[in-house]
Amino acid sequence: MKALVLSGGEGTRLRPFTYSMAKQLVPVANKPVLVHCLENLRDIGIEDVGVIVGGHAAQIEATVGDGSRLGLRLTYIRQEAPLGLAHCVALAADFLGDDDFVMYLGDNVLADGIAEAAEAFHERRPDAQVLVTKVADPRQYGVAEVDADSKVLALVEKPSAPRSDLAVIGVYFFTAAVHEAVRAIEPSARGELEITDAIQHLVDAGRTVTAREYEGYWKDTGKIDDLLECNREILARIAGTAADREGAEVDAESILQGPVVLGPGARVVRSKLTGPLVIGAGSVITGSSVGPYTAVGRDCVLEDSGVEDSIILEGAAIKNVRDLQSCVIGRWAQVQKPVTAASGSRLIIGDHTRAEVMA
Ligand code: G1P
Repeated sequence: MKALVLSGGEGTRLRPFTYSMAKQLVPVANKPVLVHCLENLRDIGIEDVGVIVGGHAAQIEATVGDGSRLGLRLTYIRQEAPLGLAHCVALAADFLGDDDFVMYLGDNVLADGIAEAAEAFHERRPDAQVLVTKVADPRQYGVAEVDADSKVLALVEKPSAPRSDLAVIGVYFFTAAVHEAVRAIEPSARGELEITDAIQHLVDAGRTVTAREYEGYWKDTGKIDDLLECNREILARIAGTAADREGAEVDAESILQGPVVLGPGARVVRSKLTGPLVIGAGSVITGSSVGPYTAVGRDCVLEDSGVEDSIILEGAAIKNVRDLQSCVIGRWAQVQKPVTAASGSRLIIGDHTRAEVMA
């Protein structure tokens, strides 16, 4: 069995971060979402992975390379324009051949892995198997209508009047039967070849398509608030024992509570760290209060500041600002108190940035 990971897409809902980075590389608990995905594939015994890449191809290749560090062989396939998930399957047809494959959207996090889903697919071996989960508002997702025997009766992309509360989540198992379906469908109203239409085509052709409810934690990290929620969930699972702090320095005046992970070369001085949290290699935290539910990337500087429930990316500096909450702060960004007491707030922020400033 092979895998196809979709890492094209522009990530407009994650701007401004996606102006300079692929959305699949945004870190959750200091690990790019794409790496969480590749680890799940490795854990079910996959070796060959096709990775669909778009405009941020070079960055993705620089991060995960040929996959050997993760025990995988990656083959990059370029998608020139975001023409839909089924278009990705068409582009990968030569790579996939007649093999069964699992298609995984590179911005989806399935924190409990996909082993049970893979086993169910191998046992029953339908022509296709989707994973579904109950959601409060199915209108933003593909929605499945399923019978008592777990067979999919209908699949609709982002319906305005959903016929069930079962959202299709971003991991699909296919046999080679999907290729003919992909060739048969036409672009949707939004101009994309939809994978939901290809799967519906299989259903209409009398093929067996099953749905399996995912019982673990799932999140599509395509929006800021979902990204922060996912960060909390993954952090809640870290061990954060003394072994996770080897090579870091913590002075006698600092207090650590709960699971705390510190990367090599990280320094903590006169600070209070409340886990769960992770702090990347080389970051220096002085006179600050960090956590809970906070991921600080590598080489960051926090001085006399307070931050919780946040994602701080590599190289960012925060000085003399208390009470930061639910923030996502980009790479090498600087956040600080006004330099003189007389000056007001000063913002030098990029396109599509959001700042909520204390009045
Ligand atoms: C895509 C699929 C949709 C699915 C969702 C899961 O939507 O088209 O069927 O429910 O991923 O994350 P997108 O996130 O591209 O809007």
